[in-house]
Amino acid sequence: MILVTTAGKVGAEAARLLARRMEPVRLLVRNPQKATASTQPGVELVLGDLNARETIDAAMQGVSGVILVSPADPAHEIDVIDSAVRAGVSHIVKVTSKASADSPIARRRDQAAIEDRLIASGLGHTLLRNNAYMQNFLMLAPAIRKTSSFGSAAGDGRIGMIDSRDVAAVAAEIAASPASHTGKTYWPSGPAGLTYAEAAEELSKALGRTIDYRPLSFEEQKQDMIDAGLPAHIAQMNTQAVSLFARGDSDWVTDDVPSILGRPAGTFRQFVMDHSAVFA
Ligand SMILES: NC(=O)c1ccc[n+]([C@@H]2O[C@H](COP(=O)([O-])OP(=O)(O)OC[C@H]3O[C@@H](n4cnc5c(N)ncnc54)[C@H](OP(=O)(O)O)[C@@H]3O)[C@@H](O)[C@H]2O)c1
Repeated sequence: MILVTTAGKVGAEAARLLARRMEPVRLLVRNPQKATASTQPGVELVLGDLNARETIDAAMQGVSGVILVSPADPAHEIDVIDSAVRAGVSHIVKVTSKASADSPIARRRDQAAIEDRLIASGLGHTLLRNNAYMQNFLMLAPAIRKTSSFGSAAGDGRIGMIDSRDVAAVAAEIAASPASHTGKTYWPSGPAGLTYAEAAEELSKALGRTIDYRPLSFEEQKQDMIDAGLPAHIAQMNTQAVSLFARGDSDWVTDDVPSILGRPAGTFRQFVMDHSAVFA
């Protein structure tokens, strides 16, 4: 049995893919109404909350592998790791980012603390240090729909953006067959680096109307995120990450997705086509 720890973009898709290949899979959800729509028969939904240790322990019964994905609160993820040790789990796939103990971004320091704890646990593990998700553009969709433009503090930085569905596919593949991936760190990315101006061109082509990109200052970007409903501390971390794009921080591409999945990574063009109704 493979436990997937949350039912967000990556977790729900990973659970769906595991069920499709007939792997026993359990998805921890705190809001089953949201999760049901994104899963399919074969996914066992278990009601829980990463804030409540007893629900993690209950979900961990009979589990051999875990896909550890969440908003990366160290208290939550470390509880999952400790629970997995107690339950005799053999392997954890950890969805992470450019983790670093001395990063200016709190989330990356948190990811580093979780990674350290996972490594110290002695459990078999694989780290997926993913590049930025294409799905971050879905947060810009309301502005694109309303104004045919979007702003960002990403400057002219090139980003090896990955479709989060590929992150899910890589996590599912490794969870189903961990042997050759144990102890490894991967850096999954999309197939090519893209600037936000180039992303605007792709959106224009797919939507049949001009979509403009407006460079924003740090403060303008942060305010935009707060106006879109993000809590201030999340807006701060996300704005820091976007501002680092401008300095080339995410200008990297690897062949981890094709080498693990045996097919090319999804393109930004495909991502936009698949979500055109959201942007139109
Ligand atoms: N976005 C990027 O560009 C990017 C890049 C690299 C790595 N990452 C990493 O990807 C991870 C996020 O994955 P994602 O995009 O799949 O997340 P997501 O789509 O934002 O979904 C988060 C999920 O976690 C659930 N959740 C939150 N708190 C919970 C709790 N206490 N108990 C149970 N469930 C809880 C949410 O449930 P509700 O629906 O009920 O809120 C939601 O289903 C983070 O570790 C991040 O660092 C992101």
